[in-house]
Amino acid sequence: MMAAKPETIQASYVVRGGRREDCDELLRLIWELADHEGTLQKPTITNEILLEDAFGERPNLHFFVVELEDNGVSRKRMLMGFAAMNSFVTDIFDGRHSMLCGLYIDEGHRGNGLGRALMKAVCKTCLDLGVGSLDFDVKMNNQRARHFYSSLGVTNNTETKGWEYWTFHDTNMNKFSSEPECLNGVNTQL
Ligand SMILES: CC(C)(COP(=O)(O)OP(=O)(O)OC[C@H]1O[C@@H](n2cnc3c(N)ncnc32)[C@H](O)[C@@H]1OP(=O)(O)O)[C@@H](O)C(=O)NCCC(=O)NCCS
Repeated sequence: MMAAKPETIQASYVVRGGRREDCDELLRLIWELADHEGTLQKPTITNEILLEDAFGERPNLHFFVVELEDNGVSRKRMLMGFAAMNSFVTDIFDGRHSMLCGLYIDEGHRGNGLGRALMKAVCKTCLDLGVGSLDFDVKMNNQRARHFYSSLGVTNNTETKGWEYWTFHDTNMNKFSSEPECLNGVNTQL
């Protein structure tokens, strides 16, 4: 019989809310996540946008980090993982829902319960915000993440509802919105 996995996180890690001074390290981890995902386009997000969106006048980004502690003393901003989510958008059918924008644990620190701890912080924030669902996409070939999310109780909409994931990119939004419309009887006042 396999031994039960430990219920506690190693004392050398701190899981906490993100701070302004974490944004540099957060950016580094975002690049690592993009590398891991094999994203063709490199992240274009900047430190300034992270700061503005997480701590500016209209904050819309929440993030949580895993910090490595050295004998109880935090090393200088040594982050080993993060989770980031948006506040919420209002769906006209279902009310508030949030997006999980990223979850990442440094390769050498996976399997210690850190991903779970970050997801708990995300879930608590969602519930505090009155959010009814948290949405995100997972690459089909990311077996580890798919297994991980299933073990938390997340629903795979592609399997259960046949939903596809679609994106309207800004270049196409621009092209579409600037095309002249000549519909008879439609008086567009925008
Ligand atoms: C997916 C990812 C975030 C998971 O993070 P992690 O820290 O390795 O995950 P955890 O250690 O919390 O959980 C992994 C496993 O250990 C178990 N586990 C570890 N510690 C545990 C604990 N203290 N209590 C209970 N279970 C624990 C979990 O239940 C889970 O088991 P399972 O795989 O059999 O379900 C991580 O693998 C990662 O960063 N991957 C690369 C980036 C990525 O794919 N991100 C997601 C993009 S959508």
